[in-house]
Amino acid sequence: MGTMLSWNSQYSIGVEKIDSQHKELFDRINILLNAMKLGNGKEEVINTLDFLEQYVNKHFMDEEQIQRDTKYSGYDIQHKQHDEFRYKLKELRIKFENDGINTSLVISTQKEMTDWWRNHITKLDSELGKHIINVNNR
Ligand SMILES: [Fe+2]
Repeated sequence: MGTMLSWNSQYSIGVEKIDSQHKELFDRINILLNAMKLGNGKEEVINTLDFLEQYVNKHFMDEEQIQRDTKYSGYDIQHKQHDEFRYKLKELRIKFENDGINTSLVISTQKEMTDWWRNHITKLDSELGKHIINVNNR
């Protein structure tokens, strides 16, 4: 049923702290997707969503702090995309609560998460990586 997120060097932005957080995020997304695919109960799947959401919030906070500390000009667009993802997780929670988990939700969730992270990391975060490396080399 499609491919899971697997981290490889194409996702590296050259900043260790952020790369390792992205790896942890991929792991937590896969835990959620697996629980959905295995047909685990709603409550169990919501637990994996909580586990993911906690780390997403930590990661976005840490990353936005680095952006402020380094006076990054792309902060606003980063913050906007981060908010979009936070909103996606809230919507997903409502779907679980209202409709339970079905095959089409598994497929659309997998596609949305995979597309969102691939796009965000390879575009915005990769630009951010260059900026941080620049600042650190000053
Ligand atoms: Fe980001």
